[in-house]
Amino acid sequence: MSFTLLMDGANADVFRSLSQFLPLDGVTTNPSILAKNTTISAEEQLVRINEVLSPNQPLHVQAIAETVDGIRKEAEQIRNAFEREICIKVPVSTEGMKAIKHLVQDGVTITATGIFTTQQAFLAAKAGASYVAPYVNRIDIQHGNSMEVIRRIRQLFDTYGMPARILAASFKNVRQIEEAMLAGVHEVTVAPDLLEVLLNHQGTDAAVKQFTNEFSNAFGEGKTLFE
Ligand code: E4P
Repeated sequence: MSFTLLMDGANADVFRSLSQFLPLDGVTTNPSILAKNTTISAEEQLVRINEVLSPNQPLHVQAIAETVDGIRKEAEQIRNAFEREICIKVPVSTEGMKAIKHLVQDGVTITATGIFTTQQAFLAAKAGASYVAPYVNRIDIQHGNSMEVIRRIRQLFDTYGMPARILAASFKNVRQIEEAMLAGVHEVTVAPDLLEVLLNHQGTDAAVKQFTNEFSNAFGEGKTLFE
């Protein structure tokens, strides 16, 4: 099974910079993320983030419309705006599920989003969604158990041979990310600041500083192994 690491954000410069040291596979956005930057239009943000991705790196874009017709129209607009496949994020509301059924028939790749329960994920996958996105932190702050939800989704997908991938979202700390991976998700999408926390540790910095100091003290400032 392959694992996919996504940035949950829409800033192209941030993605480019993080990609220099993190093995990022693609990007997810949502309306709230796009709303954080009002200096350029949402469309321009999507164009720019798409430009820093290669055509095979997934970009998940969420429809804002709330009716089946509105979601279908918006999905078409999103797909027409880019010359490559875009994963259309659709919330698992009643209207969203109607839209998912139509869009799947039209061959659109769907990310069923806003998932709080095992059954929502199961129904979306059965309707043909390629990805289901359980909202880890939002589940937990509403008295739910996100890891149990993830484990059960995975168990049902495995039991019924469903190809949908579990794309866990809404993380607020790195522990949640690791637990979700151990619970069986196929993908995680993580906000830029939390992606940095995933890698950085003061113990690593302290160890590197100690090695450098001891080496310089012994062989001279600025010396490297062969110079
Ligand atoms: C995924 O793209 C979701 O929209 C996102 O992770 C939700 O995160 P939040 O709960 O921090 O808004």
